[in-house]
Amino acid sequence: MSFVIAIDGPAASGKGTLARRLAQHYGLPHLDTGLLYRATACALLDEGLPLDDVEAAVEAARGLSLTDFDETRLRGREMGEAASVVAAMPPVRAALIDMQQAFAARPEGAVLDGRDIGTVICPQARVKIFVTATPETRAQRRALELAARGEDVDYTAILDDVRKRDARDSERSAAPLKAAEDAALLDTSELDRDEAFAAALAITQARRD
Ligand code: DC
Repeated sequence: MSFVIAIDGPAASGKGTLARRLAQHYGLPHLDTGLLYRATACALLDEGLPLDDVEAAVEAARGLSLTDFDETRLRGREMGEAASVVAAMPPVRAALIDMQQAFAARPEGAVLDGRDIGTVICPQARVKIFVTATPETRAQRRALELAARGEDVDYTAILDDVRKRDARDSERSAAPLKAAEDAALLDTSELDRDEAFAAALAITQARRD
């Protein structure tokens, strides 16, 4: 298999930043798979449909194009919550598998981050990293990120979101958030961005060779 780096972890663990930096370092394409679920939820909300409309969600998922995401809108707090709801529906996950596996099969390799990359999408990936941090650390990081985007920030509400999303993403029956048995665990609670990247790079180098 080509050089695939699979990065999983809970909301706001820092996995997206790590995935982007690893992709840049190795010159690999990067897919933030959370955007697929966010874009699916966004399509339903835009059409005024309920998030549990499975048929419409599957249709929206099948119609996604990896190249035209409005990331600014999709990365908002509301869309993260909505994405977590549509992501719990097995037919929606099934509709998004081929797209993700095709991305991972690029000849040069790829970096993918999400919740089930090491377990379901790329179980053969050479490098798997499961990124964690305490809910409080993640809520603090998310609050800073949203404030930087100009959104109103209520730390308690964000911590509550983080806990709710952890529960929904981990307890669902379809591809729940969990570390692959052969994933390296990386707890970033006590690390700044550069330290976390150095640790991820060390794991990647060790597994790559
Ligand atoms: O990583 P994120 O916060 O952008 O993800 C948004 C939601 O999408 C998350 O709460 C769960 C879901 N998701 C998923 O179920 N599987 C993935 N591979 C990526 C995201």
